[in-house]
Amino acid sequence: MINQETVNKIIETAQIVEVVQDFVNLKRRGVNYIGLCPFHNEKTPSFIVSPAKGIYKCFGCGQAGNPVSFIMEHEQVSYPEALKYLARKYGITVVETQQTEEQIEQKNERDSMLIVTDYARKYFSNTLHNHQEGKAIGLSYFKERGFTKETIEKFQLGYALEQRDAFTQEALKKGYKLKYLIETGLTIDKNNYRFDRFAGRVMFPIHSLAGNTIAFGGRILKKNEKTAKYLNSPESDIYHKSNVLYGIYFAKKSIVKHDKCYMVEGYTDVISMHQAGIENVVASSGTSLTENQISLVKRFTNNLTILYDGDAAGIKASFRGIDMILEQEMNVKVVLFPEGEDPDSFSHKLSKTEFKDYIESNEQDFIKFKTSLLLEDAKGDPIKRSHLVSEIVSSIAVIPDAITRGIYIKECSSLLNVPEDALYSETNKRIFKKREAERKSRFNKAQQEIKQSQTTAIPGFVEEVFAEINEQELISLLLNFGNYELYSIQDEATFTSQTITVADYITTEILNDDLEFKNLVYKQIFEDYINALRNGEPLDEKHFINHQDVNIQKIAASLLSQNYKTSAIWEKGGKKLETTESKLKEVVQKAVSAYKLKIVQKAIKDNQEKTKEAGNDMEKIKVLFEQKEILLELKKDLSEQTGHRIIF
Ligand code: CTP
Ligand code: MN
Repeated sequence: MINQETVNKIIETAQIVEVVQDFVNLKRRGVNYIGLCPFHNEKTPSFIVSPAKGIYKCFGCGQAGNPVSFIMEHEQVSYPEALKYLARKYGITVVETQQTEEQIEQKNERDSMLIVTDYARKYFSNTLHNHQEGKAIGLSYFKERGFTKETIEKFQLGYALEQRDAFTQEALKKGYKLKYLIETGLTIDKNNYRFDRFAGRVMFPIHSLAGNTIAFGGRILKKNEKTAKYLNSPESDIYHKSNVLYGIYFAKKSIVKHDKCYMVEGYTDVISMHQAGIENVVASSGTSLTENQISLVKRFTNNLTILYDGDAAGIKASFRGIDMILEQEMNVKVVLFPEGEDPDSFSHKLSKTEFKDYIESNEQDFIKFKTSLLLEDAKGDPIKRSHLVSEIVSSIAVIPDAITRGIYIKECSSLLNVPEDALYSETNKRIFKKREAERKSRFNKAQQEIKQSQTTAIPGFVEEVFAEINEQELISLLLNFGNYELYSIQDEATFTSQTITVADYITTEILNDDLEFKNLVYKQIFEDYINALRNGEPLDEKHFINHQDVNIQKIAASLLSQNYKTSAIWEKGGKKLETTESKLKEVVQKAVSAYKLKIVQKAIKDNQEKTKEAGNDMEKIKVLFEQKEILLELKKDLSEQTGHRIIF
């Protein structure tokens, strides 16, 4: 355990802005700082850091806290781990009281795995520097590749001995648990025979954003070996390949400083670029980029430059992935290296300045680059040419900003010798199609979500009634608050969130129960909402105020002018709500329940009438009785939901 004095010192020293800034690009706004929230995917910043209060808060997703909780959340580490991180950052010596065996066992799985990978990193590095075989084979390999001592140490490179169980034996002897050796993928367990995943390879530790070793890449040394050149740690609780960028820990500060990130393919490209003095560089590790990896970069900068080695097929294969980057409103540039060179090999052929100059002077805009590359390819071939136009349009169409799209269309029109109008119309067609698809999926998703949190459903045998007051309440809520967010659901796997608006909620509730408004004007307004939601084009009040149907105009104007925002329609006992807006969720749910309650109450009355009329028709009476039971149950539920207590 970390002793209290150390804890106090860390908490006193850690400055929220400095802590957050290592991960988030913050801009000053008045006395506070603002940036893109690292805890959810957003395009406009709603993450505020207050240096005066020493806290952060996201107005988008609600995450908030102090420097310690920021590190815990962001790095997914325990409280003591977060304290240790901050102590490292501020050069505070951590004084620990001895841990009991029990306490050690209590450490959670992830921490245990990180302890194992950390040990492995040190072990491999020690082998590289101090073991005969490590020095003779591993170290000399790195030196041959032109890596300096400083570089090797900075990236904590290592060596795994050829003996197939050297690491596992040593780790077990030191008391590390087999369970975690296996879970981190360092040890492979086959029929009770345990051997090392990495043997006879030079080792590249892969770091998390916070600098913890979470995985390894191991490179074979011999040429023409049959096994893969690089072997990587498997997916685990601490290593999700698609969320990680190699080198991000070493790059993040420099990315913020230069407001730019270079993207390369391999471990050695990152390392050599650092050695050449360029530190704002990360690697995708040979696979195509994922959305999460792009979001990771986007936390620090909007400017991404992709460094390509001169292999045309590989470049073309990457184009799809780059559209995804454009979609996230990033500015994408590319640098092409000479045939057969990657950033690593090329950097060793030039001086530091020459290398930097090469990158700076060969940087070109991605869409222009793509256009000229495909143009060269298509020379004179009309089919290829038309294909080319649609390829370029596909990249332009994903750019969210219309002005930027316009600039590209202009440029590509002259490059391709295709009229601007034609490119505009193609682009717009694509945008339209894509929006259509997004809307549909959004609508479906919202419906799915709400179904789960639905108020009590009305059975099909219930006839609907004229519940004008309730219909009016619902329509009022739609008109006044339709596009307001009711709540949002976080999908932790994809870092996305689904927003449920008041209109989503009300329409789904009504549709799910197959209910229909009886007042024809309300019915029409409701149907307009449904259509709008299905098309994904949210309606605002103007739509109704300027409606072609005069009756709708009038009703809308009147409901909108009632100042619903401060009405207190829900509290009959005289107690006023603060505002409808501040209690939107409660108000909307109650309005739906009240509407349904009205319908159920009428159905109960009808049921009594019908029972009287049924006379001696036992069959009918039995059905009516069963229905009555259901209705009374519904009434009870709905009454509770509307906040009325009911005594039977
Ligand atoms: N890679 C991998 N597994 C492989 C091959 C490649 O994971 N079997 C990843 C590695 O992250 C590697 C990157 O893809 O760094 C790029 O691969 P490649 O260009 O083949 O290797 P280089 O980075 O050029 O490596 P080196 O210079 O050591 O040959
Ligand atoms: Mn290489």
